[in-house]
Amino acid sequence: MLQFSALPDLPTNPSSPSVLVPTMGALHEGHSALIRRAREIAGRQGIVTVSIFLNPLQFDSASDLAVYPRTLEADLLLCSGLGVDKVYTPSPEEFYAPDHSISIVENSLSRTLCGTTRPGHFEGVCTVVLKLLNALRPSAAIFGKKDYQQLAIIMRLVRDLCVPVEIYGVETEREPDGLALSSRNLNLNPEHRKDASRIYGALLSARDIRETGEQRREVYLQTARKHLVENAPSEMGIEYLELVDRETLAPLAKVTRPALLATAITYDKIRLIDNIEI
Ligand code: PAJ
Repeated sequence: MLQFSALPDLPTNPSSPSVLVPTMGALHEGHSALIRRAREIAGRQGIVTVSIFLNPLQFDSASDLAVYPRTLEADLLLCSGLGVDKVYTPSPEEFYAPDHSISIVENSLSRTLCGTTRPGHFEGVCTVVLKLLNALRPSAAIFGKKDYQQLAIIMRLVRDLCVPVEIYGVETEREPDGLALSSRNLNLNPEHRKDASRIYGALLSARDIRETGEQRREVYLQTARKHLVENAPSEMGIEYLELVDRETLAPLAKVTRPALLATAITYDKIRLIDNIEI
């Protein structure tokens, strides 16, 4: 496995697939699932690259960036164990010009869900992802459905700016109790970690209503909300719980088309997101 931080000379038209898995490090089984999917797409002859870059542009607070786990050595071991060909680990100074002045703004999908409370977050994500795609020129890139809004926005980015790459979405990997794997889970105290299984439980309880043919938005939201708040610790808060159209991410009045039930939950300052397709 090759670890590099300076950009290599790249062929403009690689004949075998090259697949990129963008990450911010602190790799876990969720990232591993993306890497395995990347290998399936790349095949044995293709190249799988993982980028590990803690992108300062997408953090809305310096304190959030400061506490983000950094585990580069373990990350490199995980990558090498999964047969990753290259790991791109630039520093922010190497990656961004000191006077960089271009950034990518998405004006629709990024206005809902996480976009309402994290100003500038998706601008930072779009800017880093477009830059990674331009710099590394993969034929495909893989993203997790756990960050569904991010995946939907990146699909728009690629569509609207004609970026020559194929985007793949991978299902969310979960702990045995249903909690979506996330680097942020490490920051939960034991009580909150145990309690956090209610998040996926709430999403499942709402999704099960679909079997009855129910279409009304309020019924889905009320069911999930009830499950979320029942006997919850006082430190738990619901940042949002929304039922949206899966493609436009606009609020849905009725479940008459593919929908997404998405939520952001906080335990004190730790913020967890999850979603389920309905
Ligand atoms: P990061 O949070 O490191 O996640 C990297 C990729 O792993 C994302 O596509 C994310 O959706 C996926 N992922 C995280 N947890 C997952 C889980 N439990 N199951 C499946 N996939 C999961 O997302 C980012 O980094 C950044 O915003 C990035 C796209 C790298 C741009 O900086």
